[in-house]
Amino acid sequence: MIKFDFKTYVNSFIDKEEFQKMNTRKEVYIDRLKDCEMTGWTKEIDTNLVNEIKETASYIKSNFDCLVVVGIGGSFLGSYAFNNMFKSYFNDKSYEVIYAGTTLSSKYLDELLVYLNNKNFCLNVISKSGTTLETSITYKILGDSLKRKYPDDFANHIIITTDREKGTLREDATNLKCKSFEIPNDIGGRYSFITPAHLLPLALNYDIDRIIDGYYDGKRLIDVAYEYAVIRNLLFRKGKWIENFCVCEENMSAFTEWLKQLFGETEGKNELGIYPSSVIYTRDLHSLGQFIQEGNKIIFETFIKVKNSDNFIDYNGTNLNVINNIVEESVLKAHYSGGVPCLEIEMDELSLENIGTLIYFFQLSAALSGLLFGINPFNQPGVEVYKKEVRASLNK
Ligand code: PA5
Repeated sequence: MIKFDFKTYVNSFIDKEEFQKMNTRKEVYIDRLKDCEMTGWTKEIDTNLVNEIKETASYIKSNFDCLVVVGIGGSFLGSYAFNNMFKSYFNDKSYEVIYAGTTLSSKYLDELLVYLNNKNFCLNVISKSGTTLETSITYKILGDSLKRKYPDDFANHIIITTDREKGTLREDATNLKCKSFEIPNDIGGRYSFITPAHLLPLALNYDIDRIIDGYYDGKRLIDVAYEYAVIRNLLFRKGKWIENFCVCEENMSAFTEWLKQLFGETEGKNELGIYPSSVIYTRDLHSLGQFIQEGNKIIFETFIKVKNSDNFIDYNGTNLNVINNIVEESVLKAHYSGGVPCLEIEMDELSLENIGTLIYFFQLSAALSGLLFGINPFNQPGVEVYKKEVRASLNK
């Protein structure tokens, strides 16, 4: 169960009439979203595909020591966030999934190669375009190491997830005759959670049926998603240009990275958009907390809370989780008293279903928010600028 409160610590910052006016236009924006081409993520996933993903996951688990996922941005953050939320902090026993392709650090790749030296690993390269620099470089380096190790069996170690027809990765999949999956034409990177790009790495450790059920359960939240988009838009108009996503559990920080990408790439166009930032409380109360409480009032906060914990720690007769929740609520009240609007989303527990639901909810809301800003929620032309610059410099 998930509860949303976009009123208690927000209403005093919102112009009621403006809110009502925007609310009457809800159907217009929902219809506008339905008319967008890139909404494949709202459609039901094919059960045959889900079965194929599960079978491939079993194949990986029975044949390899670990899976190395090579991807960046929307091609890795969804499954990365999920994995971080549900694995153990210490002595993790889950099937090992390693993420590469998000850095050009020689240190990282060098150490990864050494680590993989004695491992029989499988490489899942994920890129819709097939041309992303970081992914291509990492694939080449790790792929070459696989080729040296398994010259006759190289293709069996590779799984390619890419566009159905276009791009060098699709060509590679055809030439190698290796296992491959498609990222549908009508689903862009940061909206691709419900595709093999994320479901395959997740199927190694989790019941993806539960995640998928939770995801589609998010459909019933269309009105709440619109309300969230409207409130954010109204706060933006009041000069609240930064949304600070707050979590109180360290393992949820990767989820806030997913959120930052979703909202940053969706809204940040035409010199508009809310800048997404994130904190982990209580840690960051001793760093950014000061700014949020008393600094420039350009911030609003969205708390993503988890009410119950499976872990019981007794602190002087009180469950530590209760204390964590009390601290969280007190921080919210303190920030609100300092002029910071605070939105609340509370899950009863950190479950596969709840996170699946939140992923759909946030995707819906980000897309609607993009439309409210009058921009295309599904492209990211600005990202191309750096890519061009890099290519030009590297060619020199
Ligand atoms: O949301 C997006 O579309 C981007 O963040 C992409 O996911 C990211 O740039 C990686 O692109 P690709 O999957 O083409 O390698």
